[in-house]
Amino acid sequence: MSFFFKNCIFLMLVSYSLAHEDLNSHIFPRPLIIDYPEGNEFRLRESLEELRLQCTSWRFAAETNNLSPWKTIPQECAGYVEEYMTGRAYGIDLERVSKEAGNFAKRVELKDDGKDVWVFDVDETLLSNLPYYSQHGYGLEIFDHAKFDQWVEEGVAPAINSSLELYQDVLNLGFKVFLLTGRSERHRNITVDNLVKAGCQHWDKLILRSSEDHQKQAVIYKSDKRDEMVKEGYRIVGNSGDQWSDLLGSSIANRSFKLPNPMYYIP
Ligand SMILES: *[C@@H]1O[C@H](CO)[C@@H](O)[C@H](O)[C@H]1NC(C)=O
Ligand SMILES: *[C@@H]1O[C@H](CO)[C@@H](O)[C@H](O)[C@H]1NC(C)=O
Ligand SMILES: *[C@@H]1O[C@H](CO)[C@@H](O)[C@H](O)[C@H]1NC(C)=O
Repeated sequence: MSFFFKNCIFLMLVSYSLAHEDLNSHIFPRPLIIDYPEGNEFRLRESLEELRLQCTSWRFAAETNNLSPWKTIPQECAGYVEEYMTGRAYGIDLERVSKEAGNFAKRVELKDDGKDVWVFDVDETLLSNLPYYSQHGYGLEIFDHAKFDQWVEEGVAPAINSSLELYQDVLNLGFKVFLLTGRSERHRNITVDNLVKAGCQHWDKLILRSSEDHQKQAVIYKSDKRDEMVKEGYRIVGNSGDQWSDLLGSSIANRSFKLPNPMYYIP
């Protein structure tokens, strides 16, 4: 039995009638009441299937940016998100995004002025913080800046391999590569170390949040930085990021590629 199902059974007992409730992250566990009516096994299986459908639906709404801003994943979907992130699904979804982005990049006719740019976000785009999130419920816990900073300062986030392939491809095609991250300027050196260790090199700019950017919402900060690129004469052809706030706003790219991330949402 997979981890997901074990978790599900536990969750099922905690909230038996989930199937008929709207999912949100504020449902409190109900008391544990175990009874064994006739046909219990069938109902259990039915409820697990219903839970999986509800969580898939939630993830789809999250990825398509149809949810209101959210702080944690729904408690009921903890096992589902864990299985998605640690099983094959997440990797397959990442590979698809990179492949489609690569196909687009290859078709672009670059000008010879060196002003065609591909923008990459860093966290959950080039680098994976899965080792951190695996210790923090895969998005079940409210984001803790201090703890996350400690993880960043270790500088050991592994690469997202499919993104790294796209990164190499667009560099080889002749794009300028700009990394635009919500990480703080004070993490520049460790971020450079981490990126290089993960196999990422030869970028043209690494843009981090300076002190005057710290108060800005991510979507504003990133738009401002893209506005600056455009003012400097760059054409932002492609943009890869796991958050909509990496991609929306002003000076958006010709094509924006949304990588999957059901663990957290940054407005
Ligand atoms: C990514 O690639 C590196 C180097 O080839 C490899 O060691 C690592 O296992 C890969 N990671 C995943 C998640 O496939
Ligand atoms: C970052 O690295 C540069 C160049 O290696 C060095 O001059 C600088 O002092 C480092 N900054 C910090 C905060 O460690
Ligand atoms: C990007 O969009 C601009 C403005 O619509 C257009 O002129 C340009 O041809 C597009 N470039 C690519 C590579 O699609």
